[in-house]
Amino acid sequence: MPGLVIVGTQWGDEGKGKITDLLAKDASAIVRFQGGNNAGHTIVRDGVEYKFHLIPSGILHEDKYCVIGNGVVVDPRVLLEEIDGLHKAGIAASNLRVSANAHLIMPYHVLLDTADELKLGKLSIGTTRRGIGPAYADKALRLGIRVQDLLDEKILRKKIMAALESKQQALRALSVRRRKLQKEGEVSDEHLPDDRLDLHSITEDYLSYGHRLEPYITDTAKLCWNELDAGRTVIFEGAQAALLDLDHGTYPFVTSSNPIAGAACVGAGVGPTDIDQVWGIVKAYTTRVGAGPFPTELHDEVGEYMSAKGHEFGTTTGRPRRCGWLDLVALKYAIRLNRTSALAMTKLDVLSGLPTLRVATSYRSPEGAELKDFPYHQSILHHATPEYVDLPGFSEDISECREQSELPSEALDYIRFVADFVGVPIALVGVGPGHDQNVWIDPP
Ligand code: GDP
Ligand code: IMO
Ligand code: MG
Repeated sequence: MPGLVIVGTQWGDEGKGKITDLLAKDASAIVRFQGGNNAGHTIVRDGVEYKFHLIPSGILHEDKYCVIGNGVVVDPRVLLEEIDGLHKAGIAASNLRVSANAHLIMPYHVLLDTADELKLGKLSIGTTRRGIGPAYADKALRLGIRVQDLLDEKILRKKIMAALESKQQALRALSVRRRKLQKEGEVSDEHLPDDRLDLHSITEDYLSYGHRLEPYITDTAKLCWNELDAGRTVIFEGAQAALLDLDHGTYPFVTSSNPIAGAACVGAGVGPTDIDQVWGIVKAYTTRVGAGPFPTELHDEVGEYMSAKGHEFGTTTGRPRRCGWLDLVALKYAIRLNRTSALAMTKLDVLSGLPTLRVATSYRSPEGAELKDFPYHQSILHHATPEYVDLPGFSEDISECREQSELPSEALDYIRFVADFVGVPIALVGVGPGHDQNVWIDPP
């Protein structure tokens, strides 16, 4: 199956990294197609935990190309840190390739991200403050600086100059605001605008990043075509998830890219008919980092149980993830948006010990109407309350299960209920963070 897209079906952190690493064994290339280092993808191999923000989750397979596609926004400092971390762990990363057309996250994007969040105050989105939104905005404004520009000092300097000019005013406002907030004791030093934000030092820093990244920079769309045309499997690894999609998610509480399967084509440079399968990754419950609507969120001891047992803290920012029951209304929506062909359900082990497992199968509007579909209107979604079906829980520790027959019948019933309700098979269930902690589920 040459083209396989892997996407998140909730609000991120479903375990895409682990499943990508698992499925990568049958692929020849693994390609990130959107997002940036707002992502945090965790892989556990032989007890060692790896956290990747920009590097595709196939990197531990040293015989496969790992590609950062044109649709990704790249903070080159972060990318180099990740490469250095891999080298320290004895991984050469010589299989890494970076698109010459990918846009760069610049220091002013990171500052603007913070400035925008501060400006919004209580209405802030809770971004990762990695500069994602401002970098994509500059791309759309045609003020972006691309990876290929790192290799030409004259062009780089000119482009930074043009981009900086329009940023100075917003950043001055940040500076003033920061000083005011600091006086009131509300802002820590990490939000200080960096004094080195001048044309010369940014250019020098980025030229040195370019020098180090040069061996990895290439035409990655062509690389994908070569692999696909030769009949080899290419995995397109999504970051974030459907409900964080800029167009289809819970706007404005979303990220600034399109984390759905259709975007793999644009963000990697392949055509829709290159995609043969779409795998949706769904956590057995739901989590969300940052602000925005979350109908099945729990503010009780069950939510705390999920948070503690699932170690639900952001991989990128360390923020606690909000937790709640599995939302099948939202899942059905994500499945349709992505036209998902199969699901992998992760973290089922976390639900062990709960006497009842609830799944939301519809919402109720404040007027009492039953909503079977995910509401497109934000004020309806904000006030929707979930209607649940209760299923019996299981108490067994399932982390050692490797075969379907070893799972408790209640766990299997939960899997079957979800698959039947959403009409897509669950092919794989995660029972722990480890590479081998999976159970393949027989097709219905
Ligand atoms: P991603 O962003 O979708 O790649 O997910 P993250 O890596 O941010 O978060 C998923 C977390 O759950 C990581 O710490 C994984 O190691 C862990 N994980 C993945 N699958 C499972 C599973 O089946 N069970 C348990 N207990 N943990 C899992
Ligand atoms: P992975 O790939 C979970 C969230 C942020 C915030 C919103 C916008 O690990 O699943 P941004 O910095 O992108 O402008 O923030 O999106 N967010 C994520 N939440 N997992 C992620 O990535 C996320 N990437 C962004 O918390 O609410
Ligand atoms: Mg994550």
